[in-house]
Amino acid sequence: MSVNDASNTNTDGTGVSSSQEPDRPARSRVAPALLDEVTQLRLEFTRFMLQYQFAVEEVTTKISILREEFRLLHDYNPIEHVGSRVKSPESIIGKIARKGCDPSFEAIRENITDIAGIRVTCSFTSDVYRLFTMLTTQSDITVLQVKDYIATPKPNGYRSLHALVEVPVFLSDSVERVIVELKFRTIAMNFWASLEHKIYYKYKSTPPPGVLDSLSEAAETAHRLDSLMEDLHREVHAADATLRKRDNRLIPTDEVLERLLSIRTDLDSQNP
Ligand code: GTP
Ligand code: MG
Repeated sequence: MSVNDASNTNTDGTGVSSSQEPDRPARSRVAPALLDEVTQLRLEFTRFMLQYQFAVEEVTTKISILREEFRLLHDYNPIEHVGSRVKSPESIIGKIARKGCDPSFEAIRENITDIAGIRVTCSFTSDVYRLFTMLTTQSDITVLQVKDYIATPKPNGYRSLHALVEVPVFLSDSVERVIVELKFRTIAMNFWASLEHKIYYKYKSTPPPGVLDSLSEAAETAHRLDSLMEDLHREVHAADATLRKRDNRLIPTDEVLERLLSIRTDLDSQNP
């Protein structure tokens, strides 16, 4: 038996006909060069997506820090909800096709500015601006664009404060500056925007004029509600701010403060 014959012998040793094909994995019809290119592209696209995920994590951590600091030091939580998302690769490709944008990652980075999105829902309009300022004045955040649809609502009644910011993402071998889209709004503005979005989705194009009028009226009502609630909150919070008991293990108790003061006094008396 030749070497070739042996290679054709079944592994169970029955030595069935050499005309049969041995069990080999089906050969891919994709050329190896193309396969390499696809593998490279997938890696590059994944790295690109990861940067946006990291940027979202960075900014949401910043927002959480502000929220906790407020809650602990001022006994007040200005944030009702923080939501975030990274656009899917499918949606990104859909958007570049619609916009006719160059398909290089560099061009996508520059032209598709809502790949990373964070929506902050605040209690009151004043919180929207306060949070926006506290976040955007941080030294590692660069503000690229602000659209204040609260000061100047859209004709349909849409209100929110939008900003495009850039944050540095520190990777193992580089620092990437990544754009994040921020939307700040109150609960009432958010309620209105979600409903309006659903209505547009239902009609798949512009809703009938009657519906548009009702939406516009609802936007005004939501705005009035925001003002009323904020006034009420100011009145009530001013009265009870000093009465509320702060309950958190990070806040030192009176006993701890007394001990600290006594240690300091002792030290002062030893080193006058
Ligand atoms: P897009 O290309 O659609 O992202 O809009 P843009 O680049 O012109 O930015 P803009 O700041 O106007 O809107 C950004 C996002 O805010 C949108 O994708 C929506 O999620 C939201 N938005 C803007 N206008 C409206 C509106 O009239 N109604 C609702 N429900 N959402 C809106
Ligand atoms: Mg968008």
